[in-house]
Amino acid sequence: MLTPPSTPSKVRVMEMDNQKPVKKVNLLSTPPATPTKSPARLNKTNVYSKAKALFQRGYNGDSDNSTLIGRVNEGSELNKFLSDNITNNTCNSLYISGPPGTGKTAQVNLSFAKLDQKNTKVLKINCMTMTKPEHIFHEIYCGITNTHSADYHKRKTFDDLSHLLTDKQSYKSVVILLDEMDYLITKDQQILFQLFNCASTRKSHLFKTKLILIGISNALDLTDKFLPRLKSNGLNPQSLVFLPYTSDQIKQVIISKLKSLIEDKENMADSSFIPIIHPVAIQLCCKKAASVTGDLRKSFDICYKGIEMVENSIKTKNDVNLNELTFYNAPKVTISNIASICTSSFGAGSMTKLNNLNLFQKAVLSTLMNLQARQVSPSPFNRKDFNVNSFYDFYLKHMEKAVGNLLGICKKGEFLEIISTLEANSVIVLSNTGSNIELGNRIIKSNVPWDDIEKSIGEIGVLKKLLHYKY
Ligand SMILES: Nc1ncnc2c1ncn2[C@@H]1O[C@H](COP(=O)(O)OP(=O)(O)O)[C@@H](O)[C@H]1O
Ligand SMILES: [Mg+2]
Repeated sequence: MLTPPSTPSKVRVMEMDNQKPVKKVNLLSTPPATPTKSPARLNKTNVYSKAKALFQRGYNGDSDNSTLIGRVNEGSELNKFLSDNITNNTCNSLYISGPPGTGKTAQVNLSFAKLDQKNTKVLKINCMTMTKPEHIFHEIYCGITNTHSADYHKRKTFDDLSHLLTDKQSYKSVVILLDEMDYLITKDQQILFQLFNCASTRKSHLFKTKLILIGISNALDLTDKFLPRLKSNGLNPQSLVFLPYTSDQIKQVIISKLKSLIEDKENMADSSFIPIIHPVAIQLCCKKAASVTGDLRKSFDICYKGIEMVENSIKTKNDVNLNELTFYNAPKVTISNIASICTSSFGAGSMTKLNNLNLFQKAVLSTLMNLQARQVSPSPFNRKDFNVNSFYDFYLKHMEKAVGNLLGICKKGEFLEIISTLEANSVIVLSNTGSNIELGNRIIKSNVPWDDIEKSIGEIGVLKKLLHYKY
């Protein structure tokens, strides 16, 4: 696989801890999602270098909008959450979940950048950098008081932070992002519990400085275990799910990036012109990336490699001067370039295919396998075959009953996208009867052994429930 997961394993954090037991540097800023390649240098000479820079890790272009492409609903909800609580002067919390590479961090950063920061303090903390979960209180305390961590002899505790918020109005509101919040999990989840308790609307009248908390989580066990516990204690953070990008959303992102290369848009003869990558090649790249995990970074990697491939092939030709090519006449990345990159990075066996699926895709597959397994016993769904539409109806009821709203229920369009993806990965089979039969009317069957899905689900509670739930 081309892209490593955005969240390094916990083991790495422990290694970091050993190297730096006490002293910590600049913990208040979230590092770029993946700081592997060097930052973009857009002034580099040839057109391919400029194009490659767009797809480099850590590159984030400016945006005039307050929501990312493909994240309009999520972004608007987040912006409303922020502005409502700042205007109303209330404490509140928002829990954002979703698989890696779905724009969670990028959207929060964008929303923060658009905030009027006059009476509002913004703190961004990547929890991965905490040596110990309980150090988070000290970190927040220092952030609010604008002091260096080392300036205090004793680490600030939860009580210190509570007093600070109650006794003193440092700011009207403090907006805190806890990115990669999974790293704050402790056995009893006490730390997270205290934090969300502080940012509960019920605390609004107690605190002079209002706390607005946004927690992001890539891992699923947190959604499964943490929200129910908060709820049973009367805390109910708002929650926002970032679903994997669909191939269409990925396409829009890539096209907008490529078009940004052309500076003189007004004089562009053809407004649909896309430089550097052929539209059909973009299409294939997006389909592939969406069919794996909906992680945008996968598609960026494919584009990067495709451009590099064309650039290298031109370098070997003596009659073309790379530096004289323009966005209009430079040979483009073709569909066969993309196909060859994808073959070398996506070829996979049954278990690998399953492991490549994201949570939502696995959830749908688990539901399907559960339904099929129960067809033998008497049940309301005891029919021989069912099509995608009737499976969707079942999915809605099943999700609701088995896991409540823990996962976020897909809309029909998103559901169909997941079905196409599962088919593209050949973990399900759709009947092909009739030439132009609509997706919803096609008969659906799973195409992986039960043992494999059980193995690939591992200890993820939500999925286990979906696979084994008896209705
Ligand atoms: N809609 C988008 N448009 C452009 N770039 C995006 C978009 N969504 C994500 N990205 C980029 O993709 C990468 C991964 O996004 P990120 O926000 O870090 O994902 P997450 O936090 O969900 O793991 C980042 O480099 C980010 O800038
Ligand atoms: Mg992130």
